[in-house]
Amino acid sequence: MRFRSRITGTGSYVPEQVLTNFDLEKRVDTTDEWITERTGIKERRIAGEETTSDLCLEASKRALQAAGVKPGEVDLIIVATMSGDMPMPSTASILHKKLCAKNSGAFDVNAACSGFLYGLSVADNFIRSGAMKRILLVGAEVMSRFVDWQDRSTCVLFGDGAGAVVLERTRGQRGILSTHLYSDGNMWDYICLPGGGASHPPTAKTVKDKMHVVKMKGNETFKVAVRTLEKLVTDTLKENNIRPSELAMIIPHQANLRIIKATAERLHMPMSKVAVNVDRYGNTSSASIPIALDEVVREERIKKDDYVLLEAFGAGLTWASALIKW
Ligand code: COA
Repeated sequence: MRFRSRITGTGSYVPEQVLTNFDLEKRVDTTDEWITERTGIKERRIAGEETTSDLCLEASKRALQAAGVKPGEVDLIIVATMSGDMPMPSTASILHKKLCAKNSGAFDVNAACSGFLYGLSVADNFIRSGAMKRILLVGAEVMSRFVDWQDRSTCVLFGDGAGAVVLERTRGQRGILSTHLYSDGNMWDYICLPGGGASHPPTAKTVKDKMHVVKMKGNETFKVAVRTLEKLVTDTLKENNIRPSELAMIIPHQANLRIIKATAERLHMPMSKVAVNVDRYGNTSSASIPIALDEVVREERIKKDDYVLLEAFGAGLTWASALIKW
């Protein structure tokens, strides 16, 4: 039988500092009522001195401990992030040093909010091919340093955090059954951070023009997200010959509770089978799925042999899914 990859350990970490909707009411023209009703978010975490690799480190230690794997036993470290410590080197390389890992490779994946599932697909394929045995995959963001704290349409949405998984080679029936990656670059400008790259290298003008913060066409993105995710989840189940009623849990990217509910309704899934943490952490981009996964694992809401569906949508535009037999 061919190789498969299985998640053998999960871990997550969020910074201590809590920023509530009421705190935001004092900064911008918004209300707790508007944010709660339009997004489902009540509060989010904000990194103080910590960097993205610091968040990665804490989440990774917990995932490695849960898997019973030492950093030196990992073949590859992948960090999914769009808010890494610096453009070069990768945050994965900085994490490599902080973890005292040994001969593993290390690189970052950037597919914005879909980043963790893109990373999962890469890791799964390295293991399936037989090239690697153990991979540490982390989704981590310090979004709070890349939002305009005067723009009420974006600053209320995002938060900081990290989640990690250890994937190991297996030959059994359990593990990652399939991963699915998509994008449509025609809508790249729906969500972007235009400054700081080769198109607009940092200058006093790019700073003055606020080009180093997230810009989003929220309403347009919302409509595409709902439509796209509906098709994504039904196609993923169809390809695996699984009925929605056979799913034990959906772990969606946490951008907006209305989007999460719309996808659950499409599958006739009760919200008790849907992982939600957007109320507590906001949109933590590539960290949101691994944080939510770690929570449901530690709360024992999924058990051996359960079917679990992961799905995400984000800048690019990108979208992705994974079906797991736990
Ligand atoms: N507080 C109060 N009012 C606000 C506000 C805030 N924080 N942010 C925006 N508004 C106002 C707008 O100015 C607008 O006012 P107007 O009608 O006078 O122009 C009104 O609320 C409606 O704005 P709109 O952008 O249409 O709201 P919305 O219902 O689409 O909700 C989002 C905004 C961002 C919450 C929602 O569009 C969304 O979640 N989009 C998708 C995000 C996503 O999935 N991203 C992908 C992953 S990152």
